[in-house]
Amino acid sequence: MSLADRVLHPALLERVMSADEAAALIPAGANVGMSGFTGAGYPKAVPLALARRIEQQHAAGKPFKIGLWTGASTAPELDGALAKVGGIEMRMPYQSDPACRERINAGTMQYMDIHLSHMAQFVWFGFLGHLDVALIEVAGVLPDGQLIPSSSVGNNKTWLEQADKIILEVNDLQSLALAGMHDIYYGTERPPHRKPIPLTEPNERIGDPYLRCDMSKVIAVVHTSQSDRNSSFAAPDAVSSQIAGHIIEFMQHEVKRGRLPANLLPLQSGVGNIANAVLDGLNQGPFDNLSAFTEVLQDGMLDMLRSGKLSSASATALSLSPPALEEFTRNIDFYRQRIVLRPQEISNHPELIRRLGVIAMNAMIEADIYGNVNSTHIMGTSIMNGIGGSGDFARNGYLSFFMTPSVAKGGAISCIVPMVSHVDHTEHDVQVIVTEQGLADLRGHSPTQRAKLIIDRCAHPDFRPMLRDYLARAEAGPGGRHTPHLLNEALSWHQRFVDTGTMRA
Ligand code: COA
Repeated sequence: MSLADRVLHPALLERVMSADEAAALIPAGANVGMSGFTGAGYPKAVPLALARRIEQQHAAGKPFKIGLWTGASTAPELDGALAKVGGIEMRMPYQSDPACRERINAGTMQYMDIHLSHMAQFVWFGFLGHLDVALIEVAGVLPDGQLIPSSSVGNNKTWLEQADKIILEVNDLQSLALAGMHDIYYGTERPPHRKPIPLTEPNERIGDPYLRCDMSKVIAVVHTSQSDRNSSFAAPDAVSSQIAGHIIEFMQHEVKRGRLPANLLPLQSGVGNIANAVLDGLNQGPFDNLSAFTEVLQDGMLDMLRSGKLSSASATALSLSPPALEEFTRNIDFYRQRIVLRPQEISNHPELIRRLGVIAMNAMIEADIYGNVNSTHIMGTSIMNGIGGSGDFARNGYLSFFMTPSVAKGGAISCIVPMVSHVDHTEHDVQVIVTEQGLADLRGHSPTQRAKLIIDRCAHPDFRPMLRDYLARAEAGPGGRHTPHLLNEALSWHQRFVDTGTMRA
C-alpha cells in the first residue's frame, strides 16, 4: 500500500520525508510529546533517528537532550534507544524500559512518576513547561486532515493540541480497520469551567472517532512499516492461578452478600502476568456479561471478549501478544463492536472511575502489615516502572485489590513487611490484599486488626513468625497503640536483605 492510500490530505503528501530528516527538525532541549502506551502505538522510526543524531552531537562534544513525554511505556526503539545515548533529560509519566531504569537509578536521567490521569491536565495547566513538538503514530489521515489513531490513544489529543509543531508517523502495519474503534472526547474544560463528563456506561461513545489536527502545524510526515512491541505473556503459573482463585472466590462471596451485582462491576486490570492470570481465571469462572473500564487491553480481556464472558471493554491501548494480535486483526469487525479506545485522561478519569464503580486489580511490589502498598520501588530507592494508572483506579474504585506473590527473589524476600520501603498507595486506598497464600479483606478494620489479617492470610508461612513477633513487640513498645511500630527495626527489614541477601533474621 502506498502512502497516498493512507494520507488522503493532499498538502501533507508534500511534507513526506525520511526519519532522519524529521529528527533533524527536533531541537536540543525540546519537550517532545510522543504517542505510545504500554508498547502500543508509539513512533517507530523518528526516535531511532533522533537517537543517532544525539549520539553524533555528543561525539562532537555538543550537549543534546530532550524532555520525553508519552502516554505510558513504549519500547526499546523509543525509550531504550534514547536512554542508551543519554538523550533524555526528563521522562514523564511512566516507563518500563531496562535502559531507562538503569539511567534513572544511576541518577543520570530525571524521571517524574505521576498518575496517568494527571499528565494531560498538568500540561494544559502549564505545570510542566511548554510542549515543543508532538511526534504521533497514526494509521492514516483523512481528506479533511483528521487522523485515524493507531493501537493506542494515550495523550495524543493533548500533544496535538498543545505542541507548536507536529511530526506524524504513518504506519502501514496499523490496520486502517481500527477506524471507528476510538472515542476522542473534546469536552474537557479547565476549572472553573469544567462540566460533568457525560459517560454513564463503560462502552458509551461521547466523542469523535478521529483526532483533530491543525494541518498548519505539521512539519513532517514519515512513512513506517513496523509492528508494535507485542510482548508475550507467560501462561498462568501456580502462584498467579492461586491469586486469581482467591479473587474469584471473594467476588462470589460479595455477590452472595449483595455487595456486587451478579455480573460484577466494570473491571480494571493492571499490567503484567498476574493481571493476565486473573483475567484467565475470570474467563473460566462463574461470572457472565462482564464489562471492563480499564487502561490496557491485554490478551486476557481479548479472550474474554471472544468467549462472550466480557460484553465490552473501554481502554486507552491494546497490548497484545503476537498470536492475540493476529486474532484481533482477523476479527477486527467483531472487536470494533465491543472495544472503545479513549484518551487516557478519560480512561483513567477519577470522576468516571468513581461513577462507574470500577473494580481495580493491580499488582504490587510489597505491602505492609497495615495495608500501605509499594508498586514502584525496589528496596525503597530503585524505581522499577512507575505508578501508572494504579493510583487513579485504587483511590477512586468501588473496590481496590492489590496482589503479589507472598515472596520474591526465590523466597529470600517477604512481600509482606512491617513498613513498606516506599509508599504509592496508602492504607486508605487499599481494600483487599491478595497473595497465593490467601486474601485479606481490610474493609472496616483498624490498623492492628488489619495487621493480624494480612499476616495470617497473606504472608508466607516462613515469614509469619517474624512478622507476628514484630507486631507483638511493637504493640508492647513505647509508641502509640493505633499503628504500632518499632521505627528503627521496620526499615532495617529491608536493609537486612541488602546486607545478607535475605530478610530472615
Ligand atoms: N522486593 C524486592 N524485589 C521485588 C519484590 C520485593 N518485594 N517484589 C518483586 N520484586 C522484583 C522481582 O524479583 C522482579 O525482579 P527482576 O526483574 O530482577 O526479576 C521485579 O521486581 C518485578 O517483579 P515481578 O514479580 O516480575 O512483577 P510484575 O512483572 O508482575 O510487575 C509491578 C509487578 C508491581 C512491578 C508492576 O505491576 C508495575 O509496574 N506496577 C505499577 C504500575 C501499575 O500498577 N499499573 C497498573 C495500571 S495499568
